[in-house]
Amino acid sequence: MHDDLFSHLTSTPEPFVPGAYLLRDFVGQQDQPLLHDLQRILAQAPWRHMQTPGGLTMSVAMSNCGKLGWVSDRRGYRYASLDPLSGLPWPKMPPSFEALAQSAAAVAGCEQFQPDACLINRYESGTKLSLHQDKDERDFSQPIVSVSLGVAAIFLFGGLKRSDPVLRTELTHGDVVVWGGPSRLRYHGIAPLKPEEHPLMGRVRINLTFRAAG
Ligand code: SIN
Ligand code: FE2
Repeated sequence: MHDDLFSHLTSTPEPFVPGAYLLRDFVGQQDQPLLHDLQRILAQAPWRHMQTPGGLTMSVAMSNCGKLGWVSDRRGYRYASLDPLSGLPWPKMPPSFEALAQSAAAVAGCEQFQPDACLINRYESGTKLSLHQDKDERDFSQPIVSVSLGVAAIFLFGGLKRSDPVLRTELTHGDVVVWGGPSRLRYHGIAPLKPEEHPLMGRVRINLTFRAAG
């Protein structure tokens, strides 16, 4: 199915650094079914602000879908199969989500991507995400696929060391970034969100991050 939906991208784009691909407006008109499915997920697993291991409240609101969800609390960062708020499994990953993630990974040269976790982040005006590595997953041979929706944000893409220089690139509604291979453990983050409005989404940015975690 997804071959038809995303057939507008037929050749592998150039990586902007080795192993990292920026697929501008890859989502295209699939944004509506995606947002529809997102509402269903949030009805089961609502937004929440998690605690960092150090006891701070994260400014990014989060939820998850898929077999595993990323969680943070006083015990640390990890993947969990149950939503700690409800005690129930996270909502299933909708086919629309999985198809998008797999198509984007394939365009970036990763044909075998099987995401079992989708972290859903919500940023409001002023919300930022500090530089970090995604390293709670078991298999670093699998890429990260990150989908941006709503208000544009500045994506910070650093190196393998926190002190490495940081590239800044604007991600707008529908953009997808895939990073794997030599870029899999690069530091990344989001600069404070500007107080802007998106016609479909209002004053927020939502990011879907797909991982093969377990
Ligand atoms: C993340 O690193 O978990 C999210 C990045 C983003 O919001 O684009
Ligand atoms: Fe991340």
